[in-house]
Amino acid sequence: MGEGDNKVSVKSCCDPLTFSIRVFGCQMNVYDGDRLRGAMNSLGWSEMENALDADVAIFVTCSIRDKAEQKVISELGRFRPQWERYGRPSVALVGCMAQRVGESVARRFPWVKVVAGPRRLGAVPASIAASAEDGRTRIILDEDRHGTEDLHEMPVSRGRPHKAYVTIANGCDQFCSYCIVPYVRGGFSSREPEDILNVINGLVSAGAVEVTLLGQNVNSYGRDFCGVNGAYRFAGLLSDAASVSGLKRLRFTTSHPIDFGQDILDVMSSDDAGNICPSINLPVQSGSDKVLREMNRKYTRDEYLDVVGRIRTALPNVGLTTDLIVGFPGETEDEFLDSLSLIESVRFDLVHSAAFSPREGTPAAARTDQVPREERARRLAVINDVQFGISKEINKSLEGTTCGVMLDDPAPRVEGLLQGRTVTDKVVLVRAPSEMTGEIRSVRITGSTAWCLEGELI
Ligand code: SAM
Ligand code: SF4
Ligand code: F3S
Repeated sequence: MGEGDNKVSVKSCCDPLTFSIRVFGCQMNVYDGDRLRGAMNSLGWSEMENALDADVAIFVTCSIRDKAEQKVISELGRFRPQWERYGRPSVALVGCMAQRVGESVARRFPWVKVVAGPRRLGAVPASIAASAEDGRTRIILDEDRHGTEDLHEMPVSRGRPHKAYVTIANGCDQFCSYCIVPYVRGGFSSREPEDILNVINGLVSAGAVEVTLLGQNVNSYGRDFCGVNGAYRFAGLLSDAASVSGLKRLRFTTSHPIDFGQDILDVMSSDDAGNICPSINLPVQSGSDKVLREMNRKYTRDEYLDVVGRIRTALPNVGLTTDLIVGFPGETEDEFLDSLSLIESVRFDLVHSAAFSPREGTPAAARTDQVPREERARRLAVINDVQFGISKEINKSLEGTTCGVMLDDPAPRVEGLLQGRTVTDKVVLVRAPSEMTGEIRSVRITGSTAWCLEGELI
């Protein structure tokens, strides 16, 4: 723990202390943000919508690509005038970016008063409170890839009360050559099943009807277990979680192709409770065997296609999405075309595509054969263009069908519409009163675009 000596001027001693919270990055951060919100509320702090109105702005950060970090840097810059004038808000920078570059960010922006890595969440609320009291800076980083100081807080205070995330495994040991996650999130470790099932039970009792199980490789869950839970794996957890009474929808993300066993598909296709959503994100990252090898993905194109085949046999109506990186160092035009042909042949519902972003400290960033930025952007545009056409055709084919839609929130920019999701994770816009938010309703699909479906309540 490091300390600085700037004094923060706080409000009158009678005012309750306030915080705001902003989450960047993946759903694991949403889960962490929800738990932090609960812990701050338990300390008696009130949440403010606008960071500039708060005593402390909490940023739960991401490092996956340079852009994710630049967004946070530019947000931090906006605090300068108010900090210089009123001495608030100070900032708690937590999560992956905090672990990677938090110390130097705190030197650059003196209003950053707490820096904490993602495995040190448990220390964050008390550090924020202590720093508000004495004005000192606290730097709490993970020095041990396997140590954890977790926050034992039920994420009951959420943006959408009917939906919840639960992290089932932290960290990652795959070390894909482009990825920063194993360095910032630490080693793979599965949470105890009893712990996870208790949280799911608690969330459902508190009103959640949909739960998403989270991890960088959910299907590797349990591989690190020994002793009493030695043989317990993801398929077992999926089956046990699905049995939680009152849970209407169960999802999981992200899956790694190497561990996507038949046992998982057997649980999904038998689905006794009828609540496991047939929706799978199976990141492929590249369609070229050479690039996959250099990415350290540990599967070939054919092996990936084999997993897709098994998924489609077991779950014919599955919603299948993927992640794809273009412009990995050394990727030739032919290798890029291998990725293009893969997305054309699999016909995913959605592709989360990204241009390679060098992350300092990873093997891929150190390579001397980087693909020029403009070429990476061109390849990204080509992929997006082709996938746009595929998504449009798939969505068009769903017009006239009927499906259950969980109505989540008001649709952006259109009065009177709610947006929701099908079990296959398609976005649907429906004219419905806001009181229906959180309900699952039957909807007839009447229109479509590449991005979403339109429908009417039956
Ligand atoms: N664990 C998942 C897997 O095995 O594919 C991925 C999780 S990662 C948090 C989310 C996505 O970010 C990846 O699937 C990858 O496509 C993308 N990504 C990771 N590192 C990247 C980088 N250096 N440049 C561009 N995209 C990256
Ligand atoms: Fe990153 Fe690979 Fe781990 Fe996914 S499996 S988090 S891409 S290192
Ligand atoms: Fe980003 Fe960390 Fe998630 S790098 S994608 S917030 S695991």
